[in-house]
Amino acid sequence: MKKDHGEKIVVIGAGNVGEAIAYTLMVRKQANEIVLVDVNEDRAKGAAIDVLQGTSFHKQTGVRQGGYEECADADIVIITAGIARKPGQTRLELARTNVSIIRSITESIMKHAVNPLLLVVSNPADILTREVQKVSGLPSERVIGSGTSLDTARFRANISACLNVNVTDVQAYVLGEHGDSQVAVWSSASVSGIPLTDYENIQKVELDRREITEHTRDGGAEIIGLKGATFYGVSMAVSTIVEAIVKDEHAILPVSHVLGDTYGSWSGIAFSLPCRVGREGIEQTFLVPLSEEEQKALDQSAELLKEFYSQVKE
Ligand code: LAC
Repeated sequence: MKKDHGEKIVVIGAGNVGEAIAYTLMVRKQANEIVLVDVNEDRAKGAAIDVLQGTSFHKQTGVRQGGYEECADADIVIITAGIARKPGQTRLELARTNVSIIRSITESIMKHAVNPLLLVVSNPADILTREVQKVSGLPSERVIGSGTSLDTARFRANISACLNVNVTDVQAYVLGEHGDSQVAVWSSASVSGIPLTDYENIQKVELDRREITEHTRDGGAEIIGLKGATFYGVSMAVSTIVEAIVKDEHAILPVSHVLGDTYGSWSGIAFSLPCRVGREGIEQTFLVPLSEEEQKALDQSAELLKEFYSQVKE
């Protein structure tokens, strides 16, 4: 991070998600400069002014519309642009359209940026994270997909609501694809360090694991069906990843990046595993203990993504 002017974050795409991310970064005082880039310059200008007018309540933050040249000295570039998912549409059905958009966006970023950290939010996030890493040529540790960070938040919130316990005391992951093949990892879930099954026995309750798994997986689709788009949850998930980077937190987060050669059949796949995140991006990736069923489901998630890579023209 450049100490002379603090963090500069460029957000590509000033739609609902990009705007909500700019707002959240400002409110959480995570950047000194936020630049919104969009093909619709008026949209980006309007969003920037709207967010800028709130800074006096929080922290002097420069918020403005700009072009790709602003990536030259950006610490983080967040990519949110692309066609939004429609009600009833899967993220993977979006892929073909958004792959070509994301290729051109990445080329435009890399014309100016010098060793940036790229955060990929556009859907389908895992397919596009791999695409951005390929086109940018950056090490995979510097191309982070928001992945299942939001699904994990939904999973924890659902468990917390059912158990009437503070969500911050629930440890549980959703891993794999940010999509229909995601895997809710129940086997290692715990409440304040107490294995979930023990906690249920203490409380004399039994969670409906199927219902919670499905409600978590369908969280995005449910909101899209109700109000047309999701943007607040994902902006807070992205802000948590940004916090780990700008504060060099070494925080372990379920995020997506292209896995290296040591991952066997998962090598070359981008999907979410617990990763330690700091100033320079992903520092280490962890394989949490999985039940046989969860391992099989993650393998299926990887196979599904591989199948999709083969359908998208290289
Ligand atoms: C969702 C979008 C971010 O799950 O895919 O809300």
